[in-house]
Amino acid sequence: MSSHSDALALVADDMQQVDLKMQATGEVFAPLAGAINLLLASGGKRLRPALALLVSRLYPQAELERVISLAAAVEMLHSATLVHDDVIDGSLLRRGQATLNASWSQGATILAGDFVFARAAFFAAETDNIRVMKIFSQTLMTIVEGELRQLYALRHWSQPRDAYYQRIYGKTAALFAAATEAAAVLGHAPEEQIDLLRDYGYNVGMAFQIMDDILDFVGDPGKVGKPVGGDLRQGAVTLPVFHYLQMHPEALQIMQTSGNGHDSGNLLGQLISDIAQSPAIDATRREAEQFIEAAKACLAPWPPGQHRQALLDLADYVVARSL
Ligand code: IPE
Ligand code: IPE
Ligand code: MG
Ligand code: MG
Repeated sequence: MSSHSDALALVADDMQQVDLKMQATGEVFAPLAGAINLLLASGGKRLRPALALLVSRLYPQAELERVISLAAAVEMLHSATLVHDDVIDGSLLRRGQATLNASWSQGATILAGDFVFARAAFFAAETDNIRVMKIFSQTLMTIVEGELRQLYALRHWSQPRDAYYQRIYGKTAALFAAATEAAAVLGHAPEEQIDLLRDYGYNVGMAFQIMDDILDFVGDPGKVGKPVGGDLRQGAVTLPVFHYLQMHPEALQIMQTSGNGHDSGNLLGQLISDIAQSPAIDATRREAEQFIEAAKACLAPWPPGQHRQALLDLADYVVARSL
């Protein structure tokens, strides 16, 4: 068994409760309940709730029921962003299955996403902790801003790299940071530990999105369970592209002409496979690894123990993963 599955095994019982809590029951409008339960059953790595559960285990005084509510809130919020993200990206495959927008109208899919967002907020409220609810709503604002920033930055082929980090913080790392911060809050951790654990989540989240952006170039579509190669085609300038442009400034012209809809010779397709085979991928991966080193350094003050070790292992998994 890999250390990644060892880490998840530590919280497997709690995760079962989280899954049970997220299930839509009989009182939910049947087509909606069906859609939610299908999404939950289609898998997903459950990485964010696992991080929240593991952080809370650093604090024996944390009340399990509240922690379960938090973990369910985090995963529901994540699920809602996926439902909306697939509409925005026009994506038809997620977790190896057809997305909701593949069969429902856009309007209905957005409403389903809204329902899931509200359900997430309800679970957050069930923690009975105002600070956690504030973290939660702030995070949702940040995620929406991140997705909008991304839309506004599409096809801006020369843009500062900082804008990329800002976007991925918003759309991805903010939720990881919220998951670990809120878990520490529920554990009544001292403020300096809350800060460190938030920072751990932030760094894991940044690395996670950088790896997702790498996988869009080099991932095996069968493994990742969602379409790959689409980011650049859609005009998203991700970290591998910044590195490639630094090495091949002449590629900018291909993006400017082919990336704006006039790609008769499939120049963009060629560029995508050039990037995938270039040292830009390794350079990007090294950046993800730096975020992971920073994440692990945040845990230095804690004494060795199985939950701290699991958090270290999950951080390593994020840069080793192929799905
Ligand atoms: C996908 O997240 C969206 C990103 C932030 C890249 P995950 O890769 O965690 O999705 P699931 O939940 O495992 O399907
Ligand atoms: C999605 O980023 C981030 C959120 C879900 C908010 P991506 O667009 O890269 O995620 P995938 O690749 O569709 O999972
Ligand atoms: Mg997407
Ligand atoms: Mg992606």
